[in-house]
Amino acid sequence: MKVSVIGTGHVGLITGATFAERGNDVLCVDVDRKRIRALQKLAMPFHEPGLRELVVRNSKAGRLRFGGTNADAVAFGQVVFICVPTPPQADGHADMTFVENVSRDIAAALQDYRVIVDKSTVPVLTGERVKMVITRYARKNVAFDVASSPEFLREGSAIEDTLNPDRVVFGVESARAEKVLRELYHNFKAPIVVTDIKSAELIKHASNSFLSMKISYANALAAVCELSGADVQQVTRGMGLDRRIGAAFLSAGIGYGGSCFPKDVSAFEAISRELGYDFRLISEVKSVNVEARERFLKKVQEELWIVKGKTLAALGLSFKPNTDDCRESVAIEIVKRLLSMGARVRAYDPAAIPTAREILGKSVTYCRSAYDAARGADAALVLTEWKEFADLDLAKLKRALAQPVVLDGRNLFDPAKMREMGFIYRSVGRP
Ligand code: UGA
Repeated sequence: MKVSVIGTGHVGLITGATFAERGNDVLCVDVDRKRIRALQKLAMPFHEPGLRELVVRNSKAGRLRFGGTNADAVAFGQVVFICVPTPPQADGHADMTFVENVSRDIAAALQDYRVIVDKSTVPVLTGERVKMVITRYARKNVAFDVASSPEFLREGSAIEDTLNPDRVVFGVESARAEKVLRELYHNFKAPIVVTDIKSAELIKHASNSFLSMKISYANALAAVCELSGADVQQVTRGMGLDRRIGAAFLSAGIGYGGSCFPKDVSAFEAISRELGYDFRLISEVKSVNVEARERFLKKVQEELWIVKGKTLAALGLSFKPNTDDCRESVAIEIVKRLLSMGARVRAYDPAAIPTAREILGKSVTYCRSAYDAARGADAALVLTEWKEFADLDLAKLKRALAQPVVLDGRNLFDPAKMREMGFIYRSVGRP
């Protein structure tokens, strides 16, 4: 099938590459010409395991092309995916300007029947708006369908998530659109959930908010564990084996970050309020998330007494492992706070130093390894759970540190073993 993708961010580029991998002819367009030129030369705009290989293979096979306008995308694809950003506004609402602009371009270019599928994360009722805009701005009276197919990929495992998803959701309002989308997904093994457009839109916000709620639940539980002397990992393991609960997304730590959860939770809260429901449960998820980092910072202060003038090794800067993405990274927020308290920070991350540098500039010393960051430091802070950190030679780390203090915001190490080795070790929700 001929498929067009408008927007080559994380969602768009991976959507395009995976549909090509599944045998479709794909055209990806973007207003960012620099990005398109780079993609034409097979240079990836962000770090994502396996992406380059996928793009190279499908570009060479002629199934994946980059470049052109939104009008070209409409002319090319029988299905046109909208994958543009919906960034947060100050009041929590998602900014829908890009979606609206693209919808107008689509309207102006429509010549034949097209299925316009929104894949960006959007508030419920966006589909109605997109349909209204296309109807209003269309130059010709052409039949079209609007659909919603939210994306559930996680950064760092995006290719696998997209090629083998737990489920595929699409919201449609005509049998014709359903037929086209079923055909497009015919060689995916996942169960397909077909809904109305509003329900599909809500599935995305509801899923991300629910996952955030699980994380905040684990973090609130960690607070009770710290106060009572219980171990949060043992508690969540015991809970997670209950199939109704599930073990995933119950890791306590310094809270969730990234370009999705914080934005989507706020957008879901905002659209619910606009519709007339005060989603207090979601508001509390946000507060608990902020508390998690505050509790970690309190531990740093307890262990160091005076932060000002101390040298701290920050292990990890990206919002999670296997990505160079530092957007809304709690690790970055913690580093900023420590700097504002007067600490000197020596930071290391296996992939995110270039992206972190864009945010932190010269305020920290960037290091070549975890051991290098630890050199002469008064404490090491584990902020992102890269496997590389879990595999560290702890004796070597101890030798590098000026003081054997490890504050682990991701529960990477065994507390008993750390103490046995002579570390002053504190983690989250564990004695
Ligand atoms: C998230 C969702 O998991 C995807 O399904 C969704 O498609 C995506 O948002 C999106 O809306 O685009 P992502 O932001 O890539 O994916 O990252 P996650 O793996 O979900 O992690 C989010 C944050 O939660 C990270 O900061 C991570 O460290 C934190 N986390 C995760 C915890 O603190 N504890 C956990 O148990 C799990």
